[in-house]
Amino acid sequence: MTAKIVVVGSFNADLVSYMERMPRPGETVHGNRFATGAGGKGSNQAVAAARLSADVSFIGRLGNDVFANLAYEIWDAEGVNHDFVNRDSEVATGVAPILVDSSGENMIVVVLGANERLCRSDIDAARERIAAAHMLVVQLEVNLEMVPYALQAAKEFGVATILNPAPAAPISPETIQLADYLTPNETELETLIGGADDVVSAARALLTRDDQTAIVTLGAKGAQIVTPDDARLVPTFAVDVVDTTGAGDTFNAALAVGLSEGMALERAVRFANAAAALCVTKPGAADSVPGRADVDALL
Ligand code: RIB
Repeated sequence: MTAKIVVVGSFNADLVSYMERMPRPGETVHGNRFATGAGGKGSNQAVAAARLSADVSFIGRLGNDVFANLAYEIWDAEGVNHDFVNRDSEVATGVAPILVDSSGENMIVVVLGANERLCRSDIDAARERIAAAHMLVVQLEVNLEMVPYALQAAKEFGVATILNPAPAAPISPETIQLADYLTPNETELETLIGGADDVVSAARALLTRDDQTAIVTLGAKGAQIVTPDDARLVPTFAVDVVDTTGAGDTFNAALAVGLSEGMALERAVRFANAAAALCVTKPGAADSVPGRADVDALL
């Protein structure tokens, strides 16, 4: 069965510098490579879901500039539908200067630009597409008022939802309530609920409904599934890390695909772990997302 997924989210042009180590404040270091690529959490998730064989529609905003071309190039190459993407003539396409060190860790500055101008009419225009989807996925890299609005639209049609609360930002319990699956990493979880004794208690404190699931991504340790009455750690795969950019996006996309295809939760998380593990073995964000055959082979 082909998973039908709608992603509401950001596109950024990623401007990536690779270096031995990150500079300290006030310091200049030499980079050893530079690349411009398609990024943005929303677009990365859309591209990843398409590469994992889903039928994907993307709802978002671009500026009227040359960086927008990067978006259309990758969406057309990967078969991501962009009928519901609007161009904004007043602001620039989102950009993300990224630093990556030799261990594969990154630091990112996001200048949201057009992503911040996503509005109700952009989502309203796609209501029929949302109604026909198995899953709607949204993150926090757009106009934040549109996050509950998009989730609510999906709820009206009984469509399942993933809220990936990234990058870290506080969000209301009313918004959390609208998500079936919440997928923070540890930093995002801490931003959402403050300190807690451990990941499981923190994730449980996030849940506002009995039928909600938190899946906390833990990097090399895997992912922790937490429901009100269950907690299971799903370990990931050991790989050589080159660049972690886009790993969380790939995880979310694969989770959406797995669940939409009817995989049981733990199997879908294992599938997502495998996709994210392969993503970190290559440089770039959307460019490093694996295809379905590679993920199936690793599994
Ligand atoms: O999650 C990775 C993404 O975060 C990058 O592609 C960058 O654009 C930022 O949005």
